[in-house]
Amino acid sequence: MCGIVGYVGPRPSQDILIAGLARLEYRGYDSAGIAVIDGDGNLGMRKKAGKLAVLRDSLEDAPLGQGTTGIGHTRWATHGGPTDLNAHPHLADDGKLAVIHNGIIENFAPLRDELVAEGVEFLSETDTEVAAALLGREYRSNGGDLQAAFQAVVNRLEGAFTLLAMHQDTPGLVVGARRNSPLVIGLGEGENFLGSDVAAFVEHTRKALAIGQDQIVAITPDAVTVTDFAGTPVEAEPFDVSWDAAAAEKGGWASFMAKEVAEQPEAVANTIRGRVQDGEVVIPELDGLDDLFVGINRVIITACGTASYAALVGKYAIEQWARVATDVELAHEFRYRDPVIGDDTLVISISQSGETMDTLMAVKYARERGARTLSICNTQGATIPRESDAVVYTHAGPEVAVASTKAFSAQITALLLLGLHMGRVRSVLTDTAAVAELASLPEKIASVLEKENDHVTQLANWMADTRSVLFLGRHVGYPIALEGALKLKEISYIHAEGFAAGELKHGPIALIEPGQPVFVIVPSPRHSALIHSKVVSNIQEIRARGARVIVVAEEGDAAVLPFADEVIHIPLAGAMFEPVLAVVPLQIFAMALATAKGLDVDQPRNLAKSVTVE
Ligand code: G6P
Repeated sequence: MCGIVGYVGPRPSQDILIAGLARLEYRGYDSAGIAVIDGDGNLGMRKKAGKLAVLRDSLEDAPLGQGTTGIGHTRWATHGGPTDLNAHPHLADDGKLAVIHNGIIENFAPLRDELVAEGVEFLSETDTEVAAALLGREYRSNGGDLQAAFQAVVNRLEGAFTLLAMHQDTPGLVVGARRNSPLVIGLGEGENFLGSDVAAFVEHTRKALAIGQDQIVAITPDAVTVTDFAGTPVEAEPFDVSWDAAAAEKGGWASFMAKEVAEQPEAVANTIRGRVQDGEVVIPELDGLDDLFVGINRVIITACGTASYAALVGKYAIEQWARVATDVELAHEFRYRDPVIGDDTLVISISQSGETMDTLMAVKYARERGARTLSICNTQGATIPRESDAVVYTHAGPEVAVASTKAFSAQITALLLLGLHMGRVRSVLTDTAAVAELASLPEKIASVLEKENDHVTQLANWMADTRSVLFLGRHVGYPIALEGALKLKEISYIHAEGFAAGELKHGPIALIEPGQPVFVIVPSPRHSALIHSKVVSNIQEIRARGARVIVVAEEGDAAVLPFADEVIHIPLAGAMFEPVLAVVPLQIFAMALATAKGLDVDQPRNLAKSVTVE
């Protein structure tokens, strides 16, 4: 989950690398470093513990020079703590060779022993330095052929890795390889780029090439070659990046998270666009793929983190509209038990980044077991869609803040579309009102943002000293309770828990003491008077024990008013659409509370946006 960028061309690389790293910093931000090779064939390197700003300041004080070949790295520590020495790049061959890495080299210990036995001394605790030393040894022994040495080394590595390397004796050449970890190529005019994702180079080019698993790439200013690990040339798949650099800029907002919360109407509208025709949901990417949905007995949706809560909403929608039993499994649990799946199972994976290692492994496992696979993903050229039989892209645009917001709304929207599509294809869909309602969803989100932003921000300011917040929900409100709690934990570092409201009396009610804040997501009584009345009873139970009750309810729901300390309103919507509206105030609350505590909402401690290790 580190960020990687590489450049070869006519321009000084230092600033290009730093700008690329700034766009990749969401992938990890505990240390950063770059190496550049100048026109005289000297390799310069600087790396610093701390956020990218520390490295940037150091380079401003003492630039590395005008070198036009370079690699850069922003780190999320796995092997070895976040120190200057453990930061990347790592050097070998007497400082002439630089290597950066994302992932985990699982066999690094025996490789390290082998090198230590030969007298190699290591400066860091990282697995990456082992790969660098191995490459240095291979390069010296083959007479200085970087590409051949690199190929030999990647064939010895086990685990997950994206590796980039360059040598000062071959300026104008950067080599890279990937196994279960992301790497894409950016194609410029007389210059080329490598990046963990397109954000690394989108300000320079929107033409890109996707590289498959177990492939090696070499870039020079004028050429790109891709081979497999055996050295056989392969065709890389070209694609155009659909968003521009401005989309990944803060654009005057206080934080990326604030911008991304505000972008939700657009993200949802873009996800729906082109997928409703003549009153029916038709997903063009799924043309000719009806076989994925017909003849299945079971759907398993697998994901991690926020995406797994979107998946829970998807379960309700798919069961209701497509009438097929649907379960949600955390990817890391699904993969490591012995699930009963086969060709009658559709495994849907959800991932904003398309690179989450746990989710990727779950998809591969499902395929090996003969299941049909479909992914919902926000990132073009990512690995998970490439490993799936089909993909439905969310079009939320780049999400930079670590805490996911607009991608979550877009994931739920994609699941609603998919549920309606599956219901039609399976000839069981009866709820035509749902299709008609899709179009009004963006405008309803905009109305929540407009009407509740100040109210919820004020509430968060009042509660800045709160040490624990609970969230309750029923039916599709339950995943939103979980997501509300996760958002608060992630960015405010406050103890928060989400519960199914019905579970309250089976334990969590013991947590209620006078003044305990509890958010309750109340479903509309128009959908089910029964579910609504049960939630109102739950509110009374906690209120009777002194809880401070903050209700998220439909406009006009008078039944909750006598028992609520605060009411946050959402517009009237169909049952399956309420989650996309109810989550918005919870996102605003977490963001405002973190801000009130003076915390960095975009880069919370210990987290990374894209978790590419298991
Ligand atoms: C990390 C992030 C979460 C995200 C999860 C899944 O844990 O911090 O915000 O929900 O990964 O990410 P994905 O890219 O697979 O949706």
